[in-house]
Amino acid sequence: MALLDILEFPDSRLRTVAKPIKNVTPKIRQLADDMLQTMYLAPGIGLAASQVNVHQRLIVIDISEEKNQPLVMINPQIIQQEGSIESDEGCLSVPGYYEPVSRYSSIRVTALDQNGNPFEIEAEELLAICIQHELDHLDGKLFVDFISKTKRQLIRKKLLKRKKQN
Ligand code: NI
Repeated sequence: MALLDILEFPDSRLRTVAKPIKNVTPKIRQLADDMLQTMYLAPGIGLAASQVNVHQRLIVIDISEEKNQPLVMINPQIIQQEGSIESDEGCLSVPGYYEPVSRYSSIRVTALDQNGNPFEIEAEELLAICIQHELDHLDGKLFVDFISKTKRQLIRKKLLKRKKQN
């Protein structure tokens, strides 16, 4: 396993739209494992391949407290959505900032698992929020796109400044 570098806002590579994965190869399985390890260490509850500069449709999530319920979703697609829920979101690509974002509170999602087998899940609340957040990454979107321009520019400035200091 390997730890992967996480791209940070406003890196333009985060704006790339990821491509569907045609075959779930050992390389993809390895990527999922590496992403999980990277996410756990960060620590975070979700990570999209886009964030580690791999522009393929793969996300990993674990919202369990014990960090023992990894969820790998390849080519995830929301097929049903309803309700709305607002909560403070953060992102490993926007470290240190949390802002309220409105999402669907309940979704139905199809995806392939790490072995390439299709599955379908119903997700609510935190899991639903997390899946929508990670799916946005695959489309080149970040949660800061949903906040005010003023706040987004302030975060951008501060993160760029921090990067220079490192
Ligand atoms: Ni994120």
